[in-house]
Amino acid sequence: MNTKEEILNILIRNNGYVSGEEISESLHISRTAVWKVINTLRNGGYAIESVTNRGYKLVSCPDRITPEEIALGLKTKLLANEIYCYDLIDSTNEEAKRKALAGAPDGSLFVTEQQSGGKGRLGRSWTSPAGQGLWFTILLRSSLLPSQVASITLLAGLAVCRAVRKATGCAAMIKWPNDIVIGSKKICGILTEMAAEMDRIEYVAVGIGVNVNNENFPEELSAKATSLRLESGSFVRRVPLLQEILLEFETVLNDYPLHPESLLNEYKTQCVSLNRRVGFTRANQKMTGVAEDISPSGELIVRSDDGVLYPVYSGEVTV
Ligand code: BTN
Repeated sequence: MNTKEEILNILIRNNGYVSGEEISESLHISRTAVWKVINTLRNGGYAIESVTNRGYKLVSCPDRITPEEIALGLKTKLLANEIYCYDLIDSTNEEAKRKALAGAPDGSLFVTEQQSGGKGRLGRSWTSPAGQGLWFTILLRSSLLPSQVASITLLAGLAVCRAVRKATGCAAMIKWPNDIVIGSKKICGILTEMAAEMDRIEYVAVGIGVNVNNENFPEELSAKATSLRLESGSFVRRVPLLQEILLEFETVLNDYPLHPESLLNEYKTQCVSLNRRVGFTRANQKMTGVAEDISPSGELIVRSDDGVLYPVYSGEVTV
């Protein structure tokens, strides 16, 4: 932790006034140094009151995503050990892939306020307006097999679903494979990309886009997209939600090798696609059927209208 993080930490923990003397003594720095950091924090949007003989009190934090805020109180062991934050970037997935080639470590987090070229699944674009959502990518470089990547994608969906429920109380559900929906509208999409050889993964970039405080959407999206603010009726702070997603993702990644069935069962209970009529594409042919199950490797098992069971691997499934 650097001095700025330490002072912020003290102010948050105290939840009231804390004197400059106390801070300077506990960090072994001068009171002038404390005052300088307090001003830096104020310039960064933190509202800090100061009262003679009482000290400093944190009144509010900016809803800005900074490495310091993310790191503060983050409970993960691996994820976000290295944090790259941007104001504007083409796509956090593209940045993660560039930085992966330059040696960024396992668990690196890439997060931005805005994307100019946000990418969605199936070659679509992803609308990523400034300051309204969480647009981020987690880089994984572990010893996973290429065949396990489908599971990572499902696990990421499960982690976001858990975190959204915990942080906002919204009844988030999963639409296979990993859209997070509330009711029939989408609040989160996940784009997983990987570089692999036949039997070895070089890296996996798990890109997650959450509509957090958007108050409106472009006309073409408004019927199918929503945000946590619109659904919960109140402003949602992004950093605590991001921290919760990171922690849940790390938890499911660690638990998966030990308890794959219980995670699959939890996924199934949260999945709105099961027992529903779905449309899917097989060998370029549009088909319909009822989604009956999800296989251990993550395929949606659909009984087509002519009674045949098909594993659906990816692509668009309409519910
Ligand atoms: C989908 O189509 O549902 C997937 C959307 C994924 C969007 C996220 S936002 C952060 C990351 N960077 C991107 O360019 N895409 C993903």
